[in-house]
Amino acid sequence: MSIGIASDHGGYSLKSYIQSNLTTMKFIDYGTNTLDSVHYPLIADKLCQAILAGDISRGILICGTGIGISIRANRYQGIRAALAFDEFTAEMAKAHNNANILCLGGRTTSNDTALKLITTWATTRFEGGRHATRVELLDSTTIK
Ligand code: RB5
Repeated sequence: MSIGIASDHGGYSLKSYIQSNLTTMKFIDYGTNTLDSVHYPLIADKLCQAILAGDISRGILICGTGIGISIRANRYQGIRAALAFDEFTAEMAKAHNNANILCLGGRTTSNDTALKLITTWATTRFEGGRHATRVELLDSTTIK
């Protein structure tokens, strides 16, 4: 299935680089597509809602640091958004957390590193077992 991708203005350059250089993957673009300032929570909303609607199964979210956009994404029950910054965290995001969104920082992660993190996250398998119980707890609990 295709991978969704979205960024705010702080992640726009990295998003464009990923789309141009990871040609083995098919991306569905949820914006933004200029350097004009936009609000990252609204960008996260578009991609998270597409996942929860079943339009896509996973996605990549990028803002300046990856922090704000990951905070917003994780407000949605059933979204597991992981901010990764090296290959180990990208691998664990899938192997242990079954992250359905990988978050990256457009101002903190280099273009080459981003490609490696995406490839690692996209190709790693969720280990299940004891991690499945924990992921079920993440998704079944809403805390007010
Ligand atoms: C936008 O300037 C910046 O705050 C945003 O991209 C992100 O880094 C927030 O966490």
